[in-house]
Amino acid sequence: MCGIVGYIGKKNATRTVLEGLKRLEYRGYDSAGIAAINASGDIFLKKAVGKIVSLEKKLNPIPSSTLAIAHTRWATHGEPTVENAHPHTDCKNEIFVVHNGIIENHEKIRAALLREGHTFCSSTDTEVLAHLIERCIAFGASDLAEAVEQAVRHVQGTFGLAVIYSREPAVLVGVRRGSPLLIGLGKQEYMLASDASAIVGKTRRVIYLNDNEMAVLTPFSKKIFHLLRSGARRKKELKKPVSMIDWSIEDSQKGGFDYFMEKEIFEAPSVIENALRGRIIARKGEVKLGGLDAVRNRLRDSRRLIIVACGTSYFAGLIGKYLFETFAGLPTDIAYSSEFRYQPSVMDKNTTVLAISQSGETADTLGAIREAKKRRALTLGIVNVVGSSVTREVDAGIYNYAGPEIAVASTKAFISQLSVLVLAAIYLGRMRGFLSSEKSAPILQELLSLPGQAQKILERDVHKIKEVARVYKNHNNFLYIGRKYSWPVALEGALKLKEISYIHAEGYASGEMKHGPIALIDKHFPVLVVSPRDSVYTKTLSNIQELKARGAKIIALASEGDTEIGHHVDHVMTIPKVREELSPILSVIPLQLFAYHMAVLKDHDVDKPRNLAKSVTVE
Ligand code: AGP
Ligand code: GLU
Repeated sequence: MCGIVGYIGKKNATRTVLEGLKRLEYRGYDSAGIAAINASGDIFLKKAVGKIVSLEKKLNPIPSSTLAIAHTRWATHGEPTVENAHPHTDCKNEIFVVHNGIIENHEKIRAALLREGHTFCSSTDTEVLAHLIERCIAFGASDLAEAVEQAVRHVQGTFGLAVIYSREPAVLVGVRRGSPLLIGLGKQEYMLASDASAIVGKTRRVIYLNDNEMAVLTPFSKKIFHLLRSGARRKKELKKPVSMIDWSIEDSQKGGFDYFMEKEIFEAPSVIENALRGRIIARKGEVKLGGLDAVRNRLRDSRRLIIVACGTSYFAGLIGKYLFETFAGLPTDIAYSSEFRYQPSVMDKNTTVLAISQSGETADTLGAIREAKKRRALTLGIVNVVGSSVTREVDAGIYNYAGPEIAVASTKAFISQLSVLVLAAIYLGRMRGFLSSEKSAPILQELLSLPGQAQKILERDVHKIKEVARVYKNHNNFLYIGRKYSWPVALEGALKLKEISYIHAEGYASGEMKHGPIALIDKHFPVLVVSPRDSVYTKTLSNIQELKARGAKIIALASEGDTEIGHHVDHVMTIPKVREELSPILSVIPLQLFAYHMAVLKDHDVDKPRNLAKSVTVE
């Protein structure tokens, strides 16, 4: 949540951070702000409520500067007003702070600072940081870096910060604990950012900061330190590896589509291909996952798997549970990351905890990983963003290689996660001697055909799906149901509709419908039934009959060639026929398109739905 970007160097810093900020907007868009300092220490501060374009309008002309920080906010404490927009400043308007995270003890700190005579302008948790730094300078910190280091000692919670000070116009300080921050390396210039999309247009060379690390940047030097405890002596600066970002700015642009979400749905074929590339030896029925080799033995001896994830990634995990139990015979549980720590489940070194996360920065999922480590479990990740916090905290993992996902509503990442989960389940099944190569080879062959099948849906069915959306666009409620592998798909379809079209949509297991939700059904409450020709098809048909008897309008998502289902429902969308374990990879595509077109028809900002943010870096 929220995006941070900072720049120091010879280019116009104001312009550079503004460009970077635009690429971080998917992280939050309640307000935006910028603070810049030129070589003589003159300050420029602008803030605006809403999206970055409102800030941009106030920056005409863009003032030149050599040092700037900027922020796009997803409010946690305090409404989205100009006063609450970052950067926040101290009593003398000399220190400027942008913050991602939550200062949990902000009320206590604020009360103490008020007693000392500080005055506050906002109701955010963040503002205490600017005043704490001011206080540390007043109490003798030798420079901004030392003051920041001292200030964060008083703070509980999470932060990624970028800080500047008008009396040190050639210093940019960044520090993190629990929220992501990276340094972009240029020639006599450096950037700080919440994620790589903000800097990829300027440089591909980055250093990822870990928790409790601080960067002190000048145009000519970068120094990285561990945060010191009070009274400890400064150790040597850290030598950290430089990583290369392996995607380009074009990958993070719309490429002719109206919205990122549409572009990302249409990337499904290439996303599946990228997830599978180099990982399948089809004729042997083998899967290679180099990222797991180092923990192969522990994995083989695991007696239990627990998947932790949130939102869409959680629904992918629900399908993962079926896959791991079917292909690898491994007892698998799944927990919302945010609930995992409260479950007093017995865990030991023979338990594996698998975190699924597109961003790799979801605070709840990071919390779950840390908890799993405490309980001695082996930790794994399926993560899309290379170098993100989850990838650095787990023992081993698998990348999705789906490229940057910009739209807040996750689409291609889900498809990629499912593809990787099939691979991981087969990998485990083969390694544990549960799945023979005779059984795995045809599954892998079919998996390899999915990019072509996904392409078919995208080429052929979009118009039809749009028409169905047109019919239903004025309904205020929807029920999505499915059974077995199609149940999590129904949950995900309902989530997509909620997120971007703001239509109330319930996802339910088909069999559960009669235990309550069917009471809602009448002719004004349409139901979308995910009903491919699978092992539970006839049961799903019975559920359709039950709904029809109550007058429901029904949209079925059926397998091509199913001539029967059309007699029982009002509209049919189709997917190519595939084995049921792989069907979610295809069946989610029409649901994504349906939600997309509903939102477009309602004239919503599809990529930036209200109240949401792409990376949820607060708990
Ligand atoms: C879904 O469209 C997202 N808005 C959200 O539910 C997301 O899947 C969730 O926040 C988890 O994110 P992650 O995969 O980056 O951890
Ligand atoms: N807690 C801060 C605020 O509400 C930062 C939120 C964020 O990380 O987006 O302004």
